[in-house]
Amino acid sequence: MKSLGEETTVASMAAMVTSAAQRLLLILLAASASARYTPDWESLDSRPLPSWFDEAKFGIFLHWGVYSVPAWGSEWFWWNWQGAHLPNYEIFMHSYYPPGFSYADFAPQFRAKFFDPKLWAKLFKAAGARYVVLTSKHHEGFTNWPSPTSWNWNSMDVGPHRDLVGELGHFLREENIHYGLYHSLLEWFNPLYVLDKDNNFTTQNFVMAKALPELVDLVNKYKPDLIWSDGEWEAPDTYWNSTEFLAWLYNDSPVKDKIVVNDRWGIDTGCKHGGYLNCKDKYKPKTVPERKWEMCTTLDKMSWGYREVMNNSDILTYVEIISDLVDVVSLGGNYLLNIGPTKDGVIIPIFQERLLSVGRWLSINGEGIYASKPWRVQMEHTTSRLWFTTKQSAVYVFFADWPMSGVLQLTSPVPTNMTTVMMLGIPELLKWSEDSLDRSLLIYLPKLSPDLADMKIWTLKLKGVE
Ligand SMILES: *[C@@H]1O[C@H](CO)[C@@H](O)[C@H](O)[C@H]1NC(C)=O
Ligand SMILES: *[C@@H]1O[C@H](CO)[C@@H](O)[C@H](O)[C@H]1NC(C)=O
Ligand SMILES: *[C@@H]1O[C@H](CO)[C@@H](O)[C@H](O)[C@H]1NC(C)=O
Ligand SMILES: *[C@@H]1O[C@H](CO)[C@@H](O)[C@H](O)[C@H]1NC(C)=O
Repeated sequence: MKSLGEETTVASMAAMVTSAAQRLLLILLAASASARYTPDWESLDSRPLPSWFDEAKFGIFLHWGVYSVPAWGSEWFWWNWQGAHLPNYEIFMHSYYPPGFSYADFAPQFRAKFFDPKLWAKLFKAAGARYVVLTSKHHEGFTNWPSPTSWNWNSMDVGPHRDLVGELGHFLREENIHYGLYHSLLEWFNPLYVLDKDNNFTTQNFVMAKALPELVDLVNKYKPDLIWSDGEWEAPDTYWNSTEFLAWLYNDSPVKDKIVVNDRWGIDTGCKHGGYLNCKDKYKPKTVPERKWEMCTTLDKMSWGYREVMNNSDILTYVEIISDLVDVVSLGGNYLLNIGPTKDGVIIPIFQERLLSVGRWLSINGEGIYASKPWRVQMEHTTSRLWFTTKQSAVYVFFADWPMSGVLQLTSPVPTNMTTVMMLGIPELLKWSEDSLDRSLLIYLPKLSPDLADMKIWTLKLKGVE
């Protein structure tokens, strides 16, 4: 470029200013272009995860659909009966339903007649959940919203005659709870899907006519905070057009700034690509993974959908739930706990009781859970099971076994002359000392009220430790 000399004319100066302005414009355009995601995993995986998700830590998962009517076996009822032809399903149908009764005949009995989304939202709030994920559509293909591409197989045309997805979303927002929509890509018996499958997924009839239009419809209508994708495993992500959908979701959709997605977008994407990692159902890593993850699990160990014949021993206990939660959070994960409402929209008392017990625990101990980060050590297995998290220079220690001596020994945190120790739920500072032999931290536990003793897993807050 030419330097400004005496011979520079007004005209040439004007030209230079113009070209500088043009260069700036080009840079801005380039910047905004590079801030757009391209439909490939390298670009999509580079998107920072919206922070609400990591801060939320605890969510509630709901499996609710036509399978809630037979309420037997699991939410895979249709497949187990008419796909896998499991003999016990044939016997069940033969015993309790007239000959010729089809799976579609269950749908009118999916009434949701006591479904009170406002009460549900209040229950989930009291449970301490910061997000809720509802099955908008499971592998059976029945949509819990009036999908224009699911004719006569949706909750407005058949069964409830209500928009279940929309109604729940409205009341969750009132409680300030983030809204996630589970969505199954595949539909076991959809003729278009079966056709594409027979073509080894070289055709995309089902994706273009059903899967993609429904995903876009869900996003535009309900503006979810989370899409919990599933049913991806039979076909590659190129069949599902997953990267094209996600690029639209991240660049141009009405939820582009807040939306979070999981990793189930094609045969090989689980545990690798997407927003955060689920890997397998109930998956829990041993060390802190490089990317954000979530463990999904279910209160009824045998099923995600509601079953009438649950046995008390099939239900996760309070201590199992809380220890899972702290285990997961210490490893940087979120804990998504599932329940299956009944066909009439009832959340049965044992599920309510478990959820409320989590809420009571979180109301005292949530300070060390919500918005926490993994500490440099995740757990200790000494005399007591111990887990750690950290937040704002405090270290939180969760412990599950109250020592007989009343003195809890910690080997990882290194005390300083600034160290203070508290127990969440108790205002006074606790006494501590440093073991003269191995320099471990000895904490003198307080006497507990029956309420606090009942928590069974307690939280210490350490400040000024290294
Ligand atoms: C699909 O793949 C199978 C096995 O690879 C092959 O036998 C079959 O002919 C293929 N079908 C089509 C429609 O390409
Ligand atoms: C689906 O993906 C194919 C190939 O990547 C692309 O050509 C097509 O435009 C995509 N369709 C949609 C609706 O995204
Ligand atoms: C419940 O499960 C336990 C343990 O598996 C079993 O011993 C018991 O018989 C079951 N009870 C019923 C009513 O099925
Ligand atoms: C605490 O220890 C540091 C060195 O680790 C020292 O500089 C400081 O004076 C000590 N403070 C008190 C109050 O003892």
